[in-house]
Amino acid sequence: MARGFFITFEGGEGAGKSTQIQRLANKLRDKKYPIRVTREPGGSPGAEAIRHVLLSGAAEPFGPEMEALLFAAARSDHIEQVIRPAVDAGEVVLCDRFLDSSRVYQGVTGGLPPQIMRRIEEVSVNGMMPDLTLIFDIDPAAGLSRAAARRGDEGADRFEREDIAIHQRRREAFLAIAEREPNRCIVIDASREADVVENVVTAAVFAALDVHGAGRSNMGKG
Ligand code: TYD
Repeated sequence: MARGFFITFEGGEGAGKSTQIQRLANKLRDKKYPIRVTREPGGSPGAEAIRHVLLSGAAEPFGPEMEALLFAAARSDHIEQVIRPAVDAGEVVLCDRFLDSSRVYQGVTGGLPPQIMRRIEEVSVNGMMPDLTLIFDIDPAAGLSRAAARRGDEGADRFEREDIAIHQRRREAFLAIAEREPNRCIVIDASREADVVENVVTAAVFAALDVHGAGRSNMGKG
C-alpha cells in the first residue's frame, strides 16, 4: 500500500492553526483523500493523559527537562499508536503542533541545551519526521489577543500566560527552523484574513501532495 503524507502545523498562540486545519481537512475530504486530524500534546489515549499534566502547569515546578520528557513521552505514544499506522495505511495526517513546538518551547525558551533536545527528539520521533510543516507566523500581541477572545471566560493555559517577550522569541525560533529546513517548512503569514490564509494553505498543501504523487494510487482522486 502506498505511503500517506504527514503534515504538521506550527506557530505561536492564536495563529489560527486549528481553524485552518479544519478548513483544509474539508477540502481534502472533498477530493476524497483519506485523512486523519490530530493534535499535540495528545492525540492518543496515553498522550491525552499526559496533556492535562502539561497544560495545567502541574509539571512546571519540576523544570523544563521534566516537561520536555513528558512532551516526548506523549509524542512517542501518539506516533506509534496513531501517526505511523495512519501514514503506513496511506492516509494524509494533519497534526496540530509536533516536534518543532518542543524545539521552540522547551529548547529555545525553556533553555534546554540543543544536544539534550536532539537526543530526546531521536528517541521520541523515531524517524517519523513530517513531510511538510506549515509555520503560522503572527505578531505575538495579535496572536495572544485572538487566543484570549477565543477562550472567552476560560483562563489562559500554562504557556499563554507567559510574557510577551518570550512569545516574541518563540516566533523568531520558529522562523529560524523554517530557514534551516526549507525543504520541509513553509512560513504562512497568519495575520491575514482567514479566507486568504486558507487559499495559501490549500495551494501549498495540494502542490506538495502533487509532488509526492507516488501515494496517489490509493490516495484521493476519487
Ligand atoms: P493547546 O491548547 O493545545 O494549543 P494551541 O496549539 O492552540 O496553542 O496548547 C498547547 C500548548 O503546549 C502550547 O502553548 C504549546 C505547548 N507545547 C509545548 O510547549 N511543547 C510541545 O512539544 C507541544 C506539542 C506543545
